[in-house]
Amino acid sequence: MMPLMQLAGITKVYGEGELQVQALKGVDLEIGIGDYVAVMGPSGSGKSTLMHILGLLDSPSSGSYRLDGEEVAGFSRRKLAHLRNRKIGFIFQNFNLLPRASLLRNVELPLLYGGVGRRERQDLAMAALAKVGLADRARHRPNELSGGQRQRGAIARALVGRPSVIMADEPTGNLDQQTGSEILELFDELRAGGQTLIMVTHDPSIAARARRTIRIVDGRILSEEKRAAA
Ligand SMILES: Nc1ncnc2c1ncn2[C@@H]1O[C@H](COP(=O)(O)OP(=O)(O)OP(=O)(O)O)[C@@H](O)[C@H]1O
Ligand SMILES: [Mg+2]
Repeated sequence: MMPLMQLAGITKVYGEGELQVQALKGVDLEIGIGDYVAVMGPSGSGKSTLMHILGLLDSPSSGSYRLDGEEVAGFSRRKLAHLRNRKIGFIFQNFNLLPRASLLRNVELPLLYGGVGRRERQDLAMAALAKVGLADRARHRPNELSGGQRQRGAIARALVGRPSVIMADEPTGNLDQQTGSEILELFDELRAGGQTLIMVTHDPSIAARARRTIRIVDGRILSEEKRAAA
């Protein structure tokens, strides 16, 4: 597997003085192209912090992070934002869809930031919506959709720019079991298509769908479990 993300000795310290929290205490990790990784661990162990660093939403305090072979640990916020828009698709637990915009507009947004023209934006957004089974809801606003449809909309938005990796922090946390398993089936399809996926979950049966499960405890990777490719 070709490496996509290579972390060595990554630390993250939040705050100063007495309020200082060492959220990551030296993380070494390699994620390959086409990998499917689940991240587990107790509340406060550093999972979201690690996702934010991997996803270029935040910088580490020290250590090396190579993304597609390029060292990004020292990048400015601006450079990170640019790279993030091209390479990372995010799915947040609360979906983060704009309430006043149609689903189509929501899915077009990353392309708008990426400077893609109107016509192409619409075509790509419609294709992404079709992929998640929501072509017939393109003109609806998020509050006119079910929870599972919103989550699928968020996935379409994450997919639309053909990112190198899709990252999801508790993607099924707010969904009932049936809807949650639909989302996981969609992930399986993406994975089969070669998409790299990283997700945080508290649910072992969800983590079992991934090829690797990484366990984080107190800012360190405690163990890793690998499964045969599905
Ligand atoms: N912006 C911040 N400022 C200060 N401390 C923070 C900040 N974000 C996270 N922390 C602290 O860093 C530690 C790791 O937090 P993180 O959000 O990564 O945990 P988590 O594993 O995602 O937990 P959960 O399962 O509850 O989502 C926690 O002790 C938390 O209080
Ligand atoms: Mg978290």
